[in-house]
Amino acid sequence: MLQKMDEIFQDFQSKIANLDKQADVLALKSSVIGKKGTLAEILKSLKNATPEERKTIGPKSNQIKQNIEKIVQEKIQKIELDEVNQKLEKEKIDFSLTNKNLEQGLQAAGLHPVTSIQREIEDIFISMGFDVLDGPHIEDEFHNFEALNIPDTHPARDMQDTFWFQDMKHLLRTHTSTIQVRGMESRKPPFKFVGPGKVFRSERTDATHEMCFHQLEGMMVGKDITVGNLIYFMKTLLKEIFKKDMEVRLRPGYFPFVEPGFELDIRWKKPAKGESKHSGWLELLPCGMVHPNVLKAGGIDPEEYNGFAFGLGLDRLVMVKYMIEDIRHLHSGDLRFNKQFKAY
Ligand code: PHE
Repeated sequence: MLQKMDEIFQDFQSKIANLDKQADVLALKSSVIGKKGTLAEILKSLKNATPEERKTIGPKSNQIKQNIEKIVQEKIQKIELDEVNQKLEKEKIDFSLTNKNLEQGLQAAGLHPVTSIQREIEDIFISMGFDVLDGPHIEDEFHNFEALNIPDTHPARDMQDTFWFQDMKHLLRTHTSTIQVRGMESRKPPFKFVGPGKVFRSERTDATHEMCFHQLEGMMVGKDITVGNLIYFMKTLLKEIFKKDMEVRLRPGYFPFVEPGFELDIRWKKPAKGESKHSGWLELLPCGMVHPNVLKAGGIDPEEYNGFAFGLGLDRLVMVKYMIEDIRHLHSGDLRFNKQFKAY
């Protein structure tokens, strides 16, 4: 009987060596040490064994079971490892490749030009006593439209093709003017702040349009604020950015949340071939005096206070400053693009 048990074990060992599938290994295991396995069969005839034999058969059978369990476990681990290796071989993943050539973004390419210009402008405004505020990307209708004097039925809602959430109550903010509303909610006049951030519009992308771009909102509320104050701050900003006095002009522009509303243009001369016909006015900065309804929605008495607001397009500004022809470069994530701005 003991000899038979040895034979069963040897048979198991030679069979398992040829298997390469987990399922087959498990089947073999149960055919030997399972309830109806060959080992169990043998043990059935234990009753015919001599008392002497019984003493050794019990421990021996346990020993064989343990050995088999161990061998099966090792075999399964090996099969799994082989599978992974085969996969790697097939998919040609080379783990020996080091990342020596993969440069760290910041070290290699510096800050993204939109980030740099945003920080630069924040610093300019901080030096003029403005706070820097933040606001959420996901907004409700109140902060994106209603509080900005854009009621449900107002045609201006079409001006900004909006990414709505399924509840049709929440949306990705279409402009940073939402930060005007949040700013008014959190402070009492007089105050002045800027609010930079990403904005989203459901647009078809092309060289001048992106679905996601960056704005920097500004708002100043106090007593007897005038268009003169607005122009002063805008000219100071532009002088800091372009490192020289910029000639500006205001044209009437319509936005429901400002009255009067303006488009601020700068005199821009593209140095293309030095020809004067390339120079002209460039629309840069929508702005205006805060509409009384906006102040009211923000809990401010328009009889007592007034103010100005502006919404600067940061991507646009970067494009103008560095003469970038396609806005899509800004989101390309291509380090070769970023690297060009490292020196700035
Ligand atoms: N929120 C406007 C837009 O995105 C820009 C703007 C801001 C205009 C503040 C006037 C005042 O188009």
